[in-house]
Amino acid sequence: MDGRCSISIAPSYVELKLQLYMKEIPPMAFSSSGKIFILSVLAALFFQCLAVPAESLAPRQVISLDGTWQISTAKPTALHNAIKISDWQWTPSNLGTREPPHTLPPRLTSDSAWQSYKIGADVFNGKVGYAWFQTNLPTTKVSHLMPMMLEFAGVRTRALVFLNGKLLMDHRGGFLWFEVPLASAMHSGINTLTILVHNPGFKGATIGTVTLGTFKPTDFAASPACAANTTNGFKPVLVPNDFVAQGKFDPHANGSHGYLPVYPVWYRRTFTVPQAAKGRIVQLRFGGVMSGAVVYVNGRCVGHHVDGYAPFRFDISRYIKYGRRNTLAVYVDPRICEGWWYEGGGIYRHVSLVTLNKLHMTRWGTYAIANVTGPIHHGSATGDTAAATVTLQTTVINHLGHEARFTIKSVVLNPRLTIVGTQTIFKTLPAGATATFEQHLALPAAHLWSLNHCNLYTLKTQIIAAGGQTLDAKSVHFGIRTIRYDANRGFFLNGKPVKLNGTCNHQDFPAVGIGTPNNLWWWRVARLKKMGSNAYRCSHNPMGTALYKACDHLGMLVMDENRALGDERLGGEYDRAKSYPGVPYGDFDNLKTMILRDRNHPSIIMWSLCNEELKIQGDPFGAKLFKRAMDVVRKLDNTRPITCAMSGGYPNGFATVEDLLGINYNPGGYIQMHHQLPHARIFSSETGSSESDRGILTSNQSKGMVTQYTVHSSWSQLPWDAWTPVANQAFVAGGFVWTGFDYRGEPTPYQWPDINSHFGLLDMCGFPKPDAYYYKAAWTTRPMVYIQPQWDFPDMPLGKMLTVRCFSNCPAVELFVNGKSMGRKKFIRFQYVDWQVPWKPGTLVVRGYNGGKTVARYTVKTPGPAASLKLTNQWPNLTADGLSIAPIAVRVLDAHGNIVDHSMRTVRFSISGPGSIAGTGNGDPASHILNEATYSRAFFGRCMALVRVGKRAGTIILTAASPGLPRVQIQIHTRAASR
Ligand code: GAL
Repeated sequence: MDGRCSISIAPSYVELKLQLYMKEIPPMAFSSSGKIFILSVLAALFFQCLAVPAESLAPRQVISLDGTWQISTAKPTALHNAIKISDWQWTPSNLGTREPPHTLPPRLTSDSAWQSYKIGADVFNGKVGYAWFQTNLPTTKVSHLMPMMLEFAGVRTRALVFLNGKLLMDHRGGFLWFEVPLASAMHSGINTLTILVHNPGFKGATIGTVTLGTFKPTDFAASPACAANTTNGFKPVLVPNDFVAQGKFDPHANGSHGYLPVYPVWYRRTFTVPQAAKGRIVQLRFGGVMSGAVVYVNGRCVGHHVDGYAPFRFDISRYIKYGRRNTLAVYVDPRICEGWWYEGGGIYRHVSLVTLNKLHMTRWGTYAIANVTGPIHHGSATGDTAAATVTLQTTVINHLGHEARFTIKSVVLNPRLTIVGTQTIFKTLPAGATATFEQHLALPAAHLWSLNHCNLYTLKTQIIAAGGQTLDAKSVHFGIRTIRYDANRGFFLNGKPVKLNGTCNHQDFPAVGIGTPNNLWWWRVARLKKMGSNAYRCSHNPMGTALYKACDHLGMLVMDENRALGDERLGGEYDRAKSYPGVPYGDFDNLKTMILRDRNHPSIIMWSLCNEELKIQGDPFGAKLFKRAMDVVRKLDNTRPITCAMSGGYPNGFATVEDLLGINYNPGGYIQMHHQLPHARIFSSETGSSESDRGILTSNQSKGMVTQYTVHSSWSQLPWDAWTPVANQAFVAGGFVWTGFDYRGEPTPYQWPDINSHFGLLDMCGFPKPDAYYYKAAWTTRPMVYIQPQWDFPDMPLGKMLTVRCFSNCPAVELFVNGKSMGRKKFIRFQYVDWQVPWKPGTLVVRGYNGGKTVARYTVKTPGPAASLKLTNQWPNLTADGLSIAPIAVRVLDAHGNIVDHSMRTVRFSISGPGSIAGTGNGDPASHILNEATYSRAFFGRCMALVRVGKRAGTIILTAASPGLPRVQIQIHTRAASR
């Protein structure tokens, strides 16, 4: 059957189709060769079942479904006997801020205010609202052989499609085609189609062309997705995957999304679940799918998830064929876009299959709340210490069908993995109930988590049955530290003031886009730390879990951010997902998920509920909505302040209810708000947004290049104008510069040929731009000095005056040009100094002074001709997990080891050993080299190869070749993944 079943939206519909296929198989009149074939198939099936070990499963079995899947583009199904549905009635509905109903209200049928609706008309005309639409479908004979389907050209923007009162589809986002199979609700006679449309305030046709037609089940766009033994255009793909990043840049595609085409696709793979799991709960867990996921197991729809940033899961126990091969198919539609940045597309975070006993801990159901109770002792070699108590919360759910009696055993280990506490409690839980139980632990000398001492505790929790059998077990990390925000003195960690030297970052990476392996998150955090940054804003959505882990382990404070206030996803047509007055805000499901998932991480120091909710941030509706969301957060975590990023509206709206006031841009606003709201605890949630590129003296719009001396847009500031007011005013807790890394999309200030932003202090590949050194000087105290530009201009006329700009944290600096002093200058902290220097090849040296003493020095030299390539593995700590990526930095050097900054030479890569080339990058915002290419072009002397490790541990050899230079190799060592 695997090869023949097709899939659809409604389970019962699929069941019909399965019956249909069964009928197509001829009755038991086999030829003898046919009998032998059938017998061998049965035997194979039998042995396949036997081949599954009848092991006793671990109490909680987690199997990764990362790795090889298949992918294919999804296209609308060809309809037969197509007719356009044009006879519509509509009536307004006033649901206010409520979520739409999932059943039809009775008053709908008796409502007299129906008017006729012409397809293409705009009933909302820019007003927020709901409206009902209704029509009777032409009478038809229901045929299982040729079931019916509706194809919508688009609805603005959310459509709940009911047939004969049954909800068949809840489609959100923009004016995009979608199709709805009708079989599960269709009957002979009159079929009434009702659509509830929600419009959050956009103009344009409310409903576009609607076509009714029949289709052959085998033609249904979804059919191939569950037929694992056909190719049907499917090709192998590695999950986590961003298929959009693997596309070709197109000037006609959406620039905000990086000029990469976005379209719906199918993913599929198979998996087995052992017989031993029968009777247990099997969950399918997705860390994140971008976006509009519809998930099918063995051809049956198990659920939808629209949002692209929140993890989700489905209980698939009843869809599974135990001991046999199961087919998993996922429809992904990233056209339902939310952001104004590159969002990518695909199953881009981890996927797993989790088997649980019927009595188990809920997802994220173990939570350690640490409370420092005694004075903090600073200065020990292992970091701060203090007396602390820890409240352990364990949430248990009972699906057993009868009351459960069990023990919760919690073991806490200190950072050296020594057990420091064990607690057991005996509990009962009624059938069907979920409850949270508390245990308490005192730690007389706890090791506190801080930026330099990332002390992490481990909590191991077990649920043990009355008979002693372990029913569930899991372990999490947590940290013990204090955080405090003061309206006059800013942020304190473990009682000591810490300025938040932060950057904002989106979630895409060189080569792989958003389909990022865990280790690249660690690499990113390490690159930012190297620049002196100590804080990371997750703009504008929760990130992959590896980010928080990296921040916990490497010492980086986190502003975790929810995607948007409320649940509504507007999307499509480049619309932004924002909350509007009157838009329903539902149950805050995605927000709850973020808090539950992330609350054990000591690195997280604030919850941000949203960014720049332009329409409501300053008004009473906004304040009410914000307060509701805060109440939701507080129930799940009451240990961190709640904030958001406001681009205006303060001191009203959100600012009247939130714990911390996050101000985007407007550096003058800090002092103004400090006076107006003396108790407000203020920080700069977003600042800077200046644009620059590595190596560029003068901006050039047609080439998509921005000067390395930095420009800014109307709303943003140059680095020194952005940071000085943050740095110099103690009441400002710190700031988050837009952005740490460049990202695809939002190519400000130019559009095509640029495909990514210029905001980064580091480019896409993490190579620093000059501004990175401005911030390094501002954020670090160890004496440093830096000058730009590079001193390498082969085509520059001699004597042309160039601005040599210096960033430093020393009180005075002096520039020497070919040994001659250009004069010592006083350096005002958080500013810069310039010299005008005539171009002549040679050496520039800048010295930083403290008193009369040289405390820092930086040299740039005019390089000779390119002589070699230097390869550096920026993340050598690699496990052979088949996913991790080694970022190999490539630098073009002259014979003396100086970087040849002007070099734009092509570099080609080849590989041997257990690894592959995932792609390349170079930090050029206008590069159209495919992300997956195995070559790159040096951009001002640097580029990068991203090497994917295989599953076999060993040594990978990457070879780089460039015309006229010797080939060069680097060895990349991987160690075996633990089982
Ligand atoms: C901000 C916004 C960011 C980004 C930035 C560019 O207003 O929050 O997402 O668009 O502008 O400067």
